[in-house]
Amino acid sequence: LYIQKSKIKLLGGAEAHCLLKYTIQAHHVVWSFYEVPPTSDENVTVTETQFNNILVRVYVPKRKSEVLRRGLFYIHGGGWCLGSAAVNDYDLLSRWTADRLDAVVVSTNYRLAPKYHFPIQFEDVYNALRWFLHKTVLAKYGVNPERIGISGDSAGGNLAAAVTQQLLDDPDVKIKLKIQSLIYPALQPLDVDLPSYQENSNAPVLSKSLMVRFWSEYFTTDRSLEKAMLSRQHVPVESSHLFKFVNWSSLLPERFIKGHVYNNPNYGSSELAKKYPGFLDVRAAPLLADDKKLHSLPLTYVITCQYDPLRDDGIMYVTRLRNAGVQVTHNHVEDGFHGAFSFLEFKISHRLINQYIEWLKENL
Ligand SMILES: *[C@@H]1O[C@H](CO)[C@@H](O)[C@H](O)[C@H]1NC(C)=O
Ligand SMILES: *[C@@H]1O[C@H](CO)[C@@H](O)[C@H](O)[C@H]1NC(C)=O
Repeated sequence: LYIQKSKIKLLGGAEAHCLLKYTIQAHHVVWSFYEVPPTSDENVTVTETQFNNILVRVYVPKRKSEVLRRGLFYIHGGGWCLGSAAVNDYDLLSRWTADRLDAVVVSTNYRLAPKYHFPIQFEDVYNALRWFLHKTVLAKYGVNPERIGISGDSAGGNLAAAVTQQLLDDPDVKIKLKIQSLIYPALQPLDVDLPSYQENSNAPVLSKSLMVRFWSEYFTTDRSLEKAMLSRQHVPVESSHLFKFVNWSSLLPERFIKGHVYNNPNYGSSELAKKYPGFLDVRAAPLLADDKKLHSLPLTYVITCQYDPLRDDGIMYVTRLRNAGVQVTHNHVEDGFHGAFSFLEFKISHRLINQYIEWLKENL
């Protein structure tokens, strides 16, 4: 542990939240958890409230607006088990976005693993989003129903992609999202042996072992799922048809495949999938949606980072969305790594946030 600029930073060991119980190699984790109260500043009014019993932070610009504002629903990252809308970096990000985009930003919380498992995280986010999309709620905050977007990073990008898909088939929600923005999202736990997992298996911030741990903990505290994932024996043969949706040999551009050779998957017994069906559920793994579903998704912005085990999840989704006819802006960051967007102490995060806000200005 060391303390920097009044920020408590965890370097390895990770004695916070659920990582308390975890054994993670010291150099693998740099997660910052410093939380701040919802305090308004000269430009933005910040309040905390509940949307459908889910605690959210709402950021409303103070300057007067003649027209209804854009709305942005933000979902924080942290492997479905860490973080909150109150984390200093997420609070600042939402503040800046509200101010610079002149938008109402809703930053949602959700219940975390290991106390809660899938689908709780998904459902909390979905319930808060549905609440926000009520006409009366939008009117209260002065939001234009035709200019609402969703955004999230890492596990938050997973949840953003998942709820955006879910919304397409929801007869109760009349309002459509205009854009989705996915920042190095996790999109599937079927193949954790993608070229990006192989190349970045010991990457700082997010290693392969930590990501597999996050995935398995999303579904269960039973370590046998993690073990099976690492030996690629978690998917039963009955689900072999799903591998076409995550087949990197057909979905990655050549420059990301480089010297890697695709091995057809191994299969395990159906026991794990029966016990923890979540890991084959499209609400946890948005890459498992079929093309017909993807076709209806809104304009999409995706950030992927070269030095990130999750790089290829994002790239495969870009390919699949484009194949399905969705318009996608793909910002691949050659010098990026996992966390480069949301850990503001890294200089690169300011560059990525500027690009992201510029894109939102033009497209939301
Ligand atoms: C408020 O906006 C002004 C003008 O853009 C800027 O100079 C100032 O730093 C902002 N204040 C905060 C707390 O962000
Ligand atoms: C993956 O795609 C390759 C072609 O690029 C094909 O030969 C292989 O059979 C596919 N495997 C699966 C499991 O879909």
